[in-house]
Amino acid sequence: MDIHIVTLFPDLFTSPLKESILGKAQERGVVRVAIHDLRDHTEGKHRVADDAPYGGGVGMVLKPEPIIRCLEAISAEAGPATVVLLTPQGTPFSQEMAKRLAKEERLVLLCGRYEGVDERIRLHYTDLEVSIGDYVLAGGEIPALVVLDSTVRLLPGVVGEERSIQEDSFEAGLLDHPHYTRPVEVEGLEVPGVLLSGDHEAIRLWRRKESLRRTRARRPDLFASAPLTDEDRELLKEIEAEEAEAG
Ligand code: ADE
Repeated sequence: MDIHIVTLFPDLFTSPLKESILGKAQERGVVRVAIHDLRDHTEGKHRVADDAPYGGGVGMVLKPEPIIRCLEAISAEAGPATVVLLTPQGTPFSQEMAKRLAKEERLVLLCGRYEGVDERIRLHYTDLEVSIGDYVLAGGEIPALVVLDSTVRLLPGVVGEERSIQEDSFEAGLLDHPHYTRPVEVEGLEVPGVLLSGDHEAIRLWRRKESLRRTRARRPDLFASAPLTDEDRELLKEIEAEEAEAG
């Protein structure tokens, strides 16, 4: 997969791209990431990429021409791409969207700044607008890293064990179950006995039950649309009975 990032702040990407899963995925050749500095596509010695909004008002707007030139250079060099604009006005990002993006051959992540980008870019040069949540960041760079990280880890051969992805939160419409590692006891706090039992079926049921318990308590929105099995409904009865007993 090819990912092109268009930004006014290329240095923001240096270290996140070097480390961990994003670093490894590039070393393995699963993904190629290219950073494009918007200022390289501006005109004049001051390399200005923004301007005041027509109609007045506070803040600045990213000018259309440098973005158009940059997108055209990418498409001439690399080929056509799906262009994703990072903006608080976009569609909320989700695991589902990460899965969809992971199927693309070539992506451009266009990072907005200031008050936003000229509307003509949004209307005519982007395929998708994405928001990572209902809060406003200084720009689209951190959102682009969020999209990049969650998409790249889904590519085959990036995360060591395929199973570890299938068990992620959200994959089955539920939050992940709790995890423990050694030691068995720390500061008087113990690992649940069932996890030490070696009984794989009991462990599977405990994990499923804790996933259900967490999702129901923390994310009623997810829980309401989670596909539940007969076994899940039995586990939920146990959870309800435990809650009734605890008062
Ligand atoms: N740019 C600024 N805030 C953003 C957000 N929440 N999501 C995507 N892009 C943004």
